[in-house]
Amino acid sequence: MSATIAFPDAPVLDEDPFSDENITDPYPLFARMREMGPAVFVKPHGYYAVGRHAEAGIVASDYQRFSVAGGVGMSDIRKPGAWRARSPITEIDPPEHTQVRAALQKILSPLVVKGWKEKFAQRAEEIAEEAVARGTVDGVADITEAYVLDVFPAVLGIDVPPERIKLTGELNFNQLGPNNARVARALEHAAPIMDWYQQVLQREYMLPGGFGEKIYEGEDSGAFEKGTAPLHVRSFFRAGVDTTMAGIGSTLKLLSEHPEQLAMVKANPALLKGAFEEALRLESPAQVMFRVTTGEVELSGVRLRTDTKVGYHMGAANRDPRQWADPDRFDLTRQTAGVHRSFGVGAHVCIGQMISRLEAESILGALIRRVKRIEPAGTARWRLVNTLRTLDVLPLHLVKE
Ligand code: HEM
Repeated sequence: MSATIAFPDAPVLDEDPFSDENITDPYPLFARMREMGPAVFVKPHGYYAVGRHAEAGIVASDYQRFSVAGGVGMSDIRKPGAWRARSPITEIDPPEHTQVRAALQKILSPLVVKGWKEKFAQRAEEIAEEAVARGTVDGVADITEAYVLDVFPAVLGIDVPPERIKLTGELNFNQLGPNNARVARALEHAAPIMDWYQQVLQREYMLPGGFGEKIYEGEDSGAFEKGTAPLHVRSFFRAGVDTTMAGIGSTLKLLSEHPEQLAMVKANPALLKGAFEEALRLESPAQVMFRVTTGEVELSGVRLRTDTKVGYHMGAANRDPRQWADPDRFDLTRQTAGVHRSFGVGAHVCIGQMISRLEAESILGALIRRVKRIEPAGTARWRLVNTLRTLDVLPLHLVKE
């Protein structure tokens, strides 16, 4: 493939997007990346970073040129020294992916998800009631974790203690990035539970009636390749918990910082959907997903080398001024659903997005109905995870209605 070599190479960025400073506040670096070009070669890690909205969409969806066969993390899982194992859904390209996705979609039909609505709502009311009665809370521990770590594993049908979910989540979202000190620390923290983590994904641990059990039934009936059921359960578990907590946490933070917009939601609860989508746009939970070039390719006028990882940074794409006016402003009336890149785009677009919306609307709706205002009660802190933008602490004062 040499047809595109006439294009100039992508500019080189000699900065680490995964430094503490850039993870805490990635937006100045993202602006530089977008201005440098449609793709930049990130020298410290040897991958191309794409920060513009249009090109992020191309990289995410044009699987003939940007394949997931090397994994959706920075490490190429086909090569020696890879630090992750393959997922049987996110890390296969069409046409093989199409059939697996259809089988999963069947298990996760809108009808099935609707059936969870009541359970989600009931737990949301209880947790909101408790939090508002307490008044001053940590939005992370007392609301997002208390809620998501309770309802999601229950519908997935696996019995996992919340502390362990957090440890394995941190490991997963660090491992999708570079093999740095954060990965080493996460491995060390999770080491005592790794044997248990392998076991808990096996059939005998699936709770009756849960989604996990249905995945094993799908494997029995030939819908999924033999031996892949535990990996499917792992993919769902990993993709669904930390991201949803991150999105709900950011929505709470932004609503506490914008009382006038919280008042708009109180006056018109239908706007809550927009608040969640806008928070996902501004603080994308998944910050970057990777593909690998299948040959030498051209992307909007720059040449990318073959067999090289390309990260689409959705956190950067979601604030691209080429796409949004005043992109750093929180505005829940924007029509962002389906346009922001936080759920990806193309064949691999998030299969669980309606579940995360249902969870978010249940818990946030239950809280907002009970409060006059949500006020910051201290400094919020981001957790330093390579590829996940999530809060560690969110002190809030909930002022009762
Ligand atoms: C706010 C919450 C969520 C966010 C931000 C999110 C984000 C994403 C993104 C960006 C992708 C595409 C990855 C790529 O391009 O390679 C994705 C795919 C996926 N998500 Fe989500 N997700 C969320 C919630 C969930 C939930 C609740 C579930 C499970 C029920 C889930 C399961 C999956 C799965 C299985 C895939 C892979 C789909 C495929 O490869 O065909 N996600 N998600």
